Amino acid sequence: MLVTGATGRIGRLVIDELLGAGVPVRALIHRSEAAATLPAEVEVFTGDLTMPESLDPALNGAGAVFLVWTAPPDTAVAVVERLAAHVRRIVFLSSPHQTPHPFFQQPNPMAALHAGIERLIAATGLESTIIRPGMLSSNSLAWWAPAIRAGQVVHWPYGAAETAPVDDRDVAAVAARTLYQNGHVAGDYVLTGPESLTQAAQVGVIGDVLGRQITFKEMTPDEFRSLSESTAPSSVVEMLLAAWSAAVGQPAYITTAVADILGTAPRTFRQWAADHAAAFAEDSKPRRP
Ligand SMILES: NC(=O)c1ccc[n+]([C@@H]2O[C@H](COP(=O)([O-])OP(=O)(O)OC[C@H]3O[C@@H](n4cnc5c(N)ncnc54)[C@H](OP(=O)(O)O)[C@@H]3O)[C@@H](O)[C@H]2O)c1
Repeated sequence: MLVTGATGRIGRLVIDELLGAGVPVRALIHRSEAAATLPAEVEVFTGDLTMPESLDPALNGAGAVFLVWTAPPDTAVAVVERLAAHVRRIVFLSSPHQTPHPFFQQPNPMAALHAGIERLIAATGLESTIIRPGMLSSNSLAWWAPAIRAGQVVHWPYGAAETAPVDDRDVAAVAARTLYQNGHVAGDYVLTGPESLTQAAQVGVIGDVLGRQITFKEMTPDEFRSLSESTAPSSVVEMLLAAWSAAVGQPAYITTAVADILGTAPRTFRQWAADHAAAFAEDSKPRRP
């Protein structure tokens, strides 16, 4: 099994799941210095999705690939052709862009990219499975952990927007199962967490787990645009704002796919937060009002 995006959030966990199931794993890494973060039993190859020929050493002799695409779209045709020339099976990390819920139906350049890659994969005739996580629980690390660690108020837009955060470990476990177990060819799985929670409630859950109250204050979309200027492309910022805006007053879309595939209930956001509490732990005393 070749895992791309092997040092990323999902790919790294897929590697652990595959190794845990006794499956031999190859990792495609982008920056070679990242090799040190992988378990010793993983066969590591360096390659770049923007340079399709660089993938050949990793693909020679591989039977299946877990594809994570975070590169620009230009080389997708050539990469998918190359995958098809080598492997029998592909599991693609996509998104729920076909799900008829307002949260997933806003203008979204990632959706167009994912849909395009799915069409390319379908055209190859490879055995394929599409994995579509909704909002990942781990997004809260980048979004809220800095303020929470500093003991500050969390300022965020659309606090009333509801999502059903899915634990990255559940996404990875599903991806791994669909790679090594039979019965998932042509599978198309929308993966969500078990409960609809507003963004403000998610911050509250993190506070509960830490044993302290975290104040949540609404910020305007324009304040969010300014805040994100240096950290995220404006297309991503607009995509998030549109999705959150559409999700206010709408219970989040929830599926049973994680439980159906794994045979165990999806982890709750509270469970995720408890297992990642150290990442939110204070690095300074809270500021007193
Ligand atoms: N966040 C969410 O809530 C969410 C929800 C649904 C779907 N998704 C989808 O999940 C995917 C991202 O997965 P993730 O969060 O696990 O990714 P991630 O943590 O951002 O990691 C991306 C991985 O891809 C590698 N990479 C980047 N550019 C590359 C290139 N040109 N060639 C080869 N490898 C390259 C990175 O390596 P380096 O670090 O060495 O560059 C890293 O290992 C995206 O398609 C996203 O749309 C995300």
